[in-house]
Amino acid sequence: MPQQLIIAPSILAADFAKLGEEVRAVEAAGADWIHVDVMDGHFVPNITIGPDVVKALRPLSKKWFDVHLMIAPCDPYLEAFAKAGADSITIHVEAGAHVHRSLQAIRALGKKAGVAINPGTPESAIEPVIDLVDLILVMSVNPGFGGQSFIRSAAEKVSRLRARTQGRAIDIEVDGGITADNAVMVARAGANVLVAGSAVFKGGDPNEYRANISAIRNAAALARGEAA
Ligand code: DX5
Ligand code: ZN
Repeated sequence: MPQQLIIAPSILAADFAKLGEEVRAVEAAGADWIHVDVMDGHFVPNITIGPDVVKALRPLSKKWFDVHLMIAPCDPYLEAFAKAGADSITIHVEAGAHVHRSLQAIRALGKKAGVAINPGTPESAIEPVIDLVDLILVMSVNPGFGGQSFIRSAAEKVSRLRARTQGRAIDIEVDGGITADNAVMVARAGANVLVAGSAVFKGGDPNEYRANISAIRNAAALARGEAA
């Protein structure tokens, strides 16, 4: 049974001056998950939001908060994001020397554990922890910013990881530069969670969010042989 198709708008591309309204709007527009990009200006060359913002957003939405930690070290902050309302916490395999312990800690906090790999990282890097995670996040841009172009090699990496995890109920998420056009390729490769920031929030008109999400969902669904 293939994993359910999930469209996860990244609020990095939302209007930060009204983040609460944007989360409500994208939920109303059909988002399955809310992808929350946390950046520390150290692991990646950008700084975004912290646990207090997640805590402020939590009561506004019942949707899954898919928290993507682009921070190093990550261990000191896992509990804070768990308490703030994250449903899944994804850490980068590149973020430190103790990724196995960090993933154990996320699960001990009662949250789903995800591991992310950058475009320059081979999937072999997560082999030692692949049985410890509920989700694998394959970066299809170099982390730090939205609005970048999709890196095509990510699709092949997704395909190899889907084959490697055959038979397991594990989510494979692709993150960065996703549009209705390349959604076909990544869904066919085996990604079932598609993160999209710019492609959803482009133009900044909440009245267009539903059409933007549907365009990505329909393309991916058709690629999976499902009704759009
Ligand atoms: C990049 C983030 C992505 C990004 C996606 O470091 O992890 O989630 O915000 O935004 P788009 O879809 O615009 O590439
Ligand atoms: Zn992300």
